[in-house]
Amino acid sequence: MGKFFVSPQGTDVHALEEVSLTLHEGEFVCVVGPSGCGKSTLLRIIGGLETPSSGRLVRREDPGATLPNAFVFQDFGVLPWLTVLANAAFGLRMRGVRRRQAETAAFHWLERMGLADFADAYPDQLSGGMRQRLALARAFITGSPVLLMDEPLGSLDPQTRRLMQEHLLELWEEERKTVVLVTHSIDEAILLGDRVLVMSARPGRVTDAFEVPFVRPRDPGILDGAEFGRLRARVWDRLREQLTEGPDAPRPSLRATGTSTMPGGTAHAAGSAP
Ligand SMILES: Nc1ncnc2c1ncn2[C@@H]1O[C@H](COP(=O)(O)OP(=O)(O)OP(=O)(O)O)[C@@H](O)[C@H]1O
Ligand SMILES: [Mg+2]
Repeated sequence: MGKFFVSPQGTDVHALEEVSLTLHEGEFVCVVGPSGCGKSTLLRIIGGLETPSSGRLVRREDPGATLPNAFVFQDFGVLPWLTVLANAAFGLRMRGVRRRQAETAAFHWLERMGLADFADAYPDQLSGGMRQRLALARAFITGSPVLLMDEPLGSLDPQTRRLMQEHLLELWEEERKTVVLVTHSIDEAILLGDRVLVMSARPGRVTDAFEVPFVRPRDPGILDGAEFGRLRARVWDRLREQLTEGPDAPRPSLRATGTSTMPGGTAHAAGSAP
């Protein structure tokens, strides 16, 4: 399927070029790609928040038809005026589950996320990592079989992010939802995913799909292994190509001295050496 947008200037933005992809039930798919290549657009189309300009989305079996997909956005989507417990219960309440029942389920999830002591606190009293755990609880609690996550850990500091990756890994291995996770981190994609898709620069296409060979449950220690390193290098190789060739690619200026050449004869920054 493809997607065009109309920019504020009235010109067409070709966001997605014939993207074709199949998601299998219970599979964890990670998507990496240059900024602006249409990852969020793709996720929004999968989630039904956006319609494709061409092509379509087919659900072969439709167990989740009445359940909306749960999104986890980078900015948490946590509601600041509700307590932590009420936030966790929100999705269930929106589906008409009675307060008592929703809060019981929510509390269970808070316990699981190590947030039970903060049930009565407000989100701004939580650290970033805790807010993120709350956001994940909110997504998992809905019982939706499909979770769509748009850079869910992007705003965390590296150490907290690493812990959250391990947490998410464990959680997913227990729950086995169908997950599509967009990330800018290759390590995160390989550590968590069954498949890593690389997208091209805009208009986005899926250029590569890497199967992740590591068995589950996964030990986060694989990050330091040689096999992980080799896969990381292969993914980076392909991603790097997309990053340097796209319309939004950074154009580093040439060093003033030396005889270095720009690969592929890309456009040079003004004022650079001839
Ligand atoms: N509602 C919209 N109206 C107009 N253009 C849009 C709209 N949504 C996205 N676009 C454009 O479509 C392209 C893809 O955007 P998208 O947000 O999907 O990229 P992305 O891969 O998620 O980027 P990032 O990695 O920076 O989050 C961009 O050029 C963007 O400006
Ligand atoms: Mg995005």
